[in-house]
Amino acid sequence: MDLQGRNLLKETDLTAEEFRYLVDLGAQFAVAKHLGQRSGRLAGRNIALIFEKASTRTRSAFEVAAHDEGGHVTYLSPEDSHLGHKESVKDAARVLGRMFDGIEFRGFAQESAEILGAFAGVPVWNGLTDQWHPTQMLADILTMREHAGKPLDRVSYCYLGDGRNNTANSLLVTGALLGLDVRICAPDELWPAPETCDIARSLAARSGASLTVTADTAGAVRGADFLYTDVWLSMGEPEENWDKRIDLLLPYQVNAAMMAATGNADVKFLHCLPALHNADTEIGQRILGSRGLAGLEVTDDVFESPASVVFDQAENRLHTIKALMVATIGQLA
Ligand code: CP
Repeated sequence: MDLQGRNLLKETDLTAEEFRYLVDLGAQFAVAKHLGQRSGRLAGRNIALIFEKASTRTRSAFEVAAHDEGGHVTYLSPEDSHLGHKESVKDAARVLGRMFDGIEFRGFAQESAEILGAFAGVPVWNGLTDQWHPTQMLADILTMREHAGKPLDRVSYCYLGDGRNNTANSLLVTGALLGLDVRICAPDELWPAPETCDIARSLAARSGASLTVTADTAGAVRGADFLYTDVWLSMGEPEENWDKRIDLLLPYQVNAAMMAATGNADVKFLHCLPALHNADTEIGQRILGSRGLAGLEVTDDVFESPASVVFDQAENRLHTIKALMVATIGQLA
């Protein structure tokens, strides 16, 4: 499998075989990391990390993965570069592409990622945009593979919450690409956009995936191997909208009753993080004060339960991002 020089701007940049290859490679890097093995596969590589928005996992994963394999990273925040302010994305792409071997981009607009990918001349990896979160999907599929207790092609997962956000879009399309049983469970007004459903349906026609978009929680979660949710109050959500959004999404909260409604004693819980599962954060405190809710998209008992594999999932960001960088700009054995 040769992915040298390739972008990952969205899941459909990969075939199912290429996606599975990166997950396999990520699994190999996970074993190597736990054995303390480093192989210098990114030695001499310079990597730009562009973040228009905050990040804990994605930035850390790119930095640690690069350092583990001998690469060097340069972090560029909006304050540290002209990108988008005094310099167009197209011009920045052509400059950075002359200096770096690969570019990670987290930003507001998928269009910016596409322009970088078209003009940089080196691999560009999408670290989350308004539309897609493909590096998260590599980690999520590796985590499902580790915890499903069955072959990946027999796995079912149900995402509950805002079905139009980047993580939901990516989960729908990734499951469709790989031939899984994907359920998106959201209030009608937060269903995925028709264009996203069209992409997923056309992939499913080839892969044999089963796709469901529904507002009915009982039907959506029944028999699922994984329940997955994402933060309801994401970066930039205006505070005046919080109450309305919480009222709309509360029936989709992942709590003990929702886990039990799967009818699967082995069901696991996934979350891309960060999560509002208790009042230990500034926002959590405010929601507790204003609404009396200690958790939002997931209750603390589920988040902290043995069924929760969210920290394995977070760790897998590192191994799969390493796989992505090594496969596209590094030296494979
Ligand atoms: N899941 C995720 O993308 O986490 P960060 O926002 O911390 O990078």
